Amino acid sequence: MPYRTIIEPFRIHTVEPIDFPTEEQRIQALERAGYNLFGLHADEVIIDLLTDSGTGAMSTRQWAGMMMGDESYAGSRSYYRFRDSVASITGMAEVIPTHQGRAAERILFTVMVKAGDVVPSNTHFDTTRANVEYQQAEARDLVIAEGRDPSLIHPFKGNMDIDALESTIREVGPERIPLVMMTVTNNSGGGQPVSLENLRAVREVCDRFEIPFFLDACRFAENSWFIKQREPGYEHKTPREIALEMFALADGCTMSAKKDGMANIGGFLALNDPDIAQECRNLLILTEGFPTYGGLAGYDLEAIATGLNEALEEGYLQYRIRSTEYLAEKVNRAGVPTVQPAGGHAVYLDAKALLPHIPPSQYPAQALACALYLEGGVRGVEIGSVMFGKPQPDGSEIPAPMELVRLAVPRRTYTQSHIDFVGEVMIAVGARSAELRGLRMVEQAPWLRHFTARFEPL
Ligand SMILES: Cc1ncc(COP(=O)(O)O)c(C=O)c1O
Repeated sequence: MPYRTIIEPFRIHTVEPIDFPTEEQRIQALERAGYNLFGLHADEVIIDLLTDSGTGAMSTRQWAGMMMGDESYAGSRSYYRFRDSVASITGMAEVIPTHQGRAAERILFTVMVKAGDVVPSNTHFDTTRANVEYQQAEARDLVIAEGRDPSLIHPFKGNMDIDALESTIREVGPERIPLVMMTVTNNSGGGQPVSLENLRAVREVCDRFEIPFFLDACRFAENSWFIKQREPGYEHKTPREIALEMFALADGCTMSAKKDGMANIGGFLALNDPDIAQECRNLLILTEGFPTYGGLAGYDLEAIATGLNEALEEGYLQYRIRSTEYLAEKVNRAGVPTVQPAGGHAVYLDAKALLPHIPPSQYPAQALACALYLEGGVRGVEIGSVMFGKPQPDGSEIPAPMELVRLAVPRRTYTQSHIDFVGEVMIAVGARSAELRGLRMVEQAPWLRHFTARFEPL
């Protein structure tokens, strides 16, 4: 059609009212939550961009599929539909359902990783990092240098630095590298995609050193769309063909179906090696459930089986990726800095560039996230030194390489006017950025501290 506007490729079928807390209520809520947006009640938030994980709207086909859920403990029909759907997209022989992505990570790393090992990745997401570290191993991030420069434009900023991967393997020794991971798209690095060329190069290095290669595949469909748009030779391939080609390069994957599974809960571990799969299933039974449900209801398996296919529809992916790009363009025009180019599932505000007067030790991105909430009830999440800073024995901290606020867009949930409103709030906060002050962390947990840490304003 000769029109430029990309419309939402769905009609709204059920509506959920939004609450509108007053400014006074927002101030009180933030104080009560210790300046940590994870501590807010959802009805204290106007537009919730905390995460795109499990927050999407399901389709009529998914809801209809849920009515067909087979709740048999063992051998449920829904499991086989789920397994066939996962196998048709990944090409992998062994499909193990889990209640979400981190359960797949924990099981895989318990089986494959031991103390003293090193697990390289482009960038580990916080749960993969924590699960690697929980095995007393090191999670090492080896993203290309371009991926660490928020303002630089590059088509595949999620790519692995292949030279750094090789030198890490030589330095550590292949026997201490139980697997290499690649996060597609690279969530902690700005939702940036990874090219097939780079995945092939990682595979080649892994083959040479006989190291297994796994994908953290949460946003495999969005990554496929970026490859179609940006990688020469792929413009005429379908997202499904591209996804198959990506998965064919890996020995296995962990997946949170709360992202490109288009479901509210669920995940899986898929792999080719039957022996490792058996060990994983043994652990699955211990904590998740029988291998044909893995902690999920039969109806969840149905929702995922359908959702994985919907995530690969071209009309959906075009609208999806355009929504984040549209928000980034709007705020960039007003001078608000974001990671360039826009990520697939989120816009990442560059707090280091916007708030140069707040040092990393005072958590500039956390301060910015709080300001967006106070201004317009918009909830994002800090991806900076609160999430990835490394506390030292002397009480100091090694800061994270970037100080970002991620505004993640739930799938098929908000309309263009919601996104326009968020843009206005971001621009208003940007205009008074010089007034913002940092925070002091007053409480923290030993693992994944960003979920529960408490702060005081300085
Ligand atoms: C890249 C990546 N890996 C792993 C996970 C963990 O998945 P889950 O939240 O389902 O445990 C997430 C969730 O946000 C993610 O974005």
